[in-house]
Amino acid sequence: MKMYFESLDLCSMTVSNINSDSPIILGIESSCDETSAAVSLGNKILANVISSQKVHEAYGGVVPELASRAHQQQIVPVVNQALIEAKVQKKDLDAIAYTNGPGLMGSLLVGASFAKSMAMALGIPTIEVNHMQAHILAHFCFRDGQDDFTGPEFPFLCLTVSGGHTQIILVEDFNSMKVLGETLDDAAGEAFDKIAKILGLPYPGGPLIDKYSLKGNPSAFTFPHPRVEGLNFSFSGLKTSVLYFLQKQESQNPSFLLTHLDDLCASVQNTIVGILMEKLKNAVELVGIKRVAISGGVAANSGLRDAILAQKDWKVYIPALEFCTDNAGMVAVTGAIKYRNSDLGSPNASPFARFIGL
Ligand code: KG4
Ligand code: ZN
Repeated sequence: MKMYFESLDLCSMTVSNINSDSPIILGIESSCDETSAAVSLGNKILANVISSQKVHEAYGGVVPELASRAHQQQIVPVVNQALIEAKVQKKDLDAIAYTNGPGLMGSLLVGASFAKSMAMALGIPTIEVNHMQAHILAHFCFRDGQDDFTGPEFPFLCLTVSGGHTQIILVEDFNSMKVLGETLDDAAGEAFDKIAKILGLPYPGGPLIDKYSLKGNPSAFTFPHPRVEGLNFSFSGLKTSVLYFLQKQESQNPSFLLTHLDDLCASVQNTIVGILMEKLKNAVELVGIKRVAISGGVAANSGLRDAILAQKDWKVYIPALEFCTDNAGMVAVTGAIKYRNSDLGSPNASPFARFIGL
């Protein structure tokens, strides 16, 4: 097998064809519970197909083994659908970009193996994409009809809030990003999902808390903000305080949850958004940069979007909803940016589970 890789000499491929400014990239995302494939022309997204796995709903969280199996079932139809929607043939692809980590190892391996095999069959290079970098570079994806779109101006601050990570990043350039703060325990999305589970809601609970919040009073109940040094976050205490609060209320009124769900959701969301905004404001003050972006699944949250838009002296960047939660569009565009820099992948690359930097 090693000799086969070497004979194809994919490692030494360089970008010298006419498409180097606007390459056609197939992006593949399989780091968690979304199987997604996208096709981009330069930074324009021609197709972004996302298949969200429903199998985890009943379990209150992602079951890694079930996730890998679902990726295996979905990857071929999802890639085919993306190519059909983009009206692009396999022979027209310049490279295949895929999420190489961080994420669930079994899930990552499905996308990585598929991408490498397909690239090898087509004789084109792969591009390894860091999932957290892709969430940030989602800000540079655009759709047909937005051809004058440029994305945020560098440098900017980015609050990346997903199911696995919560980070404040100083984005100096496409290739230069510094983590200024991050969560010491649960991620913001994880807090939404775990509290939703306590409230009896199915996984993923974040979007449901957002939905019920719209009818609730955000000041109905108050939960404490954690005291955490610098620009770091902590969310595990909030989960515990919601659990104890609910247990106490239900001991006095067994139908408390049923009659106060909207207010509980609105109050929880208000607390999470408050914690995030407090640190983001500190970061803006500390760094002196007022260009501020949000990204990741929790960037879809209406409370967070409203809170950041309310900062009238900031230049705010919020991605379209399709580019917030896991999607291959952001992987394809990160791939296009790396392709322009001849930053191509290796057939010998192995996926990584934990965050190793940007
Ligand atoms: O970025 P993402 O799709 O996957 C990871 O990289 O983790 O983020 C998923 C997270 C989940 O925790 C989900 O509940 C949360 O994003 N999420 C939301 C909303 N939409 C997705 N949380 C709050 N409000 C939303 N509208
Ligand atoms: Zn993600």
